[in-house]
Amino acid sequence: MSATVIVGGQWGDEGKAKVVDFLMHDHDVVIRFQGGANAGHTVVTDAGRFAFHQIPSGVLYASVTGILGNGMVIEPFALLDELKELTSRGIDVGGRMFISSAAQIVMPYHRILDNLMEADLKGQSIGSTGKGIGPAYGDKHMRSGLRMGVFLLDKEELYDIVKAKVEAGNRLLGLLGGPPLSSEKVASDFARIRDLVSRFVVDTQELVHTMKAQGKRILLEGAQGTLLDIDHGTYPFVTSSSCTIGGALTGTGLAARDIGRVIGIFKSYVTRVGNGPMPSELAGAEGVELRERGKEYGTTTGRPRRCGWFDLVAGRYSVRLNGYDEIALTKLDVISGLRGIKLCTAYELNGKRIVSFPQSLSDLAKCRPVFEEMPGWSAGEIRVDQFSEFPVRARRFIERLESELGVPVSFISTGPAREETVIRNAAYSFDRK
Ligand code: IMP
Repeated sequence: MSATVIVGGQWGDEGKAKVVDFLMHDHDVVIRFQGGANAGHTVVTDAGRFAFHQIPSGVLYASVTGILGNGMVIEPFALLDELKELTSRGIDVGGRMFISSAAQIVMPYHRILDNLMEADLKGQSIGSTGKGIGPAYGDKHMRSGLRMGVFLLDKEELYDIVKAKVEAGNRLLGLLGGPPLSSEKVASDFARIRDLVSRFVVDTQELVHTMKAQGKRILLEGAQGTLLDIDHGTYPFVTSSSCTIGGALTGTGLAARDIGRVIGIFKSYVTRVGNGPMPSELAGAEGVELRERGKEYGTTTGRPRRCGWFDLVAGRYSVRLNGYDEIALTKLDVISGLRGIKLCTAYELNGKRIVSFPQSLSDLAKCRPVFEEMPGWSAGEIRVDQFSEFPVRARRFIERLESELGVPVSFISTGPAREETVIRNAAYSFDRK
């Protein structure tokens, strides 16, 4: 059975969790393949609003197995808090949630280092979520990280390893003028949670291949977005993981031929949190209006998101990289009710019009958007179940995206609730509720 991959098409916060939640009707397993507690996924169900950071949002379904893949960096204390919150709301993931023994651990010194390094960059800071993600992946690539498998050791061994790691971390903190952590305290905290965490830790690469062989339908849930990818994003204003299709393979251990379908999630406009170029950004009142209409504030940090019109140049780049089979377009309701809607069709760079996304950050920073305006439609007109019932102007907007991006738009989200979704692919069998 081929796996489905969900990838953020823009700068993250595209509304992936709602699409994942919807697709869970057709899947048995959901795997997060990268990132960590920097992600914030909000799902609204009949039981209320759920905010996920590390646990894959698909676990809201009792029949679904959730996996935190080897490509992730996991903060175990925050993970236990998330679990506690789920349990207190009647959702039991016991026996159906697994954590890769090869996933990296975000250590307390990573978070401090993240903030010290950001402060050191002054005006050039990345705008990190401050969750320790960059330093944790840094340790992974320097081969000095700790993996979740350490929780499978006995408490004494775990204590000794963590203590030694914190002492090494303290040396790094010292270089940046940070206060040392008590290695004994951190080591005993880890030993204290060992039994709570270890019951979830397994070789998930083995598990995923076994489930695949059993015919289980697997969904890979990406976090962040293509333009924040460590290799293909707007480096260095990126996150530290592979948020694109390549990360789905390395972050789970699945092979390329195991992937059957790649779905790109795009918001009907663009947003970005943190720093770095964003050519179609709206700096003035228009940007503020989009932010307020779309409630564009970070799930993880509460920071206001920068807003802009849909960027087709960046969109085509995202399509090329990820090879989407389909697009899920979210938050159409946010731009419904506006008099005019713009699309960024090209950039102007040094007086020349360009249509491909520049790799050079300094070029990208100089790019000015070329906008084309399309007429808007009223908000009430999209409260329908079928694409054919949409107002003609909304259909034209979506069809224009399809022709520019060369990918069909199969899902259109018209509001946060599950039923506020219009489906254009007859292959999907899910229940709108
Ligand atoms: P970090 O991943 O916390 O180091 O942050 C690096 C950059 O990625 C910053 O610009 C963050 O705002 C951005 N970022 C990290 N996680 C998310 C996310 O889940 N959604 C949107 N932006 C994110």
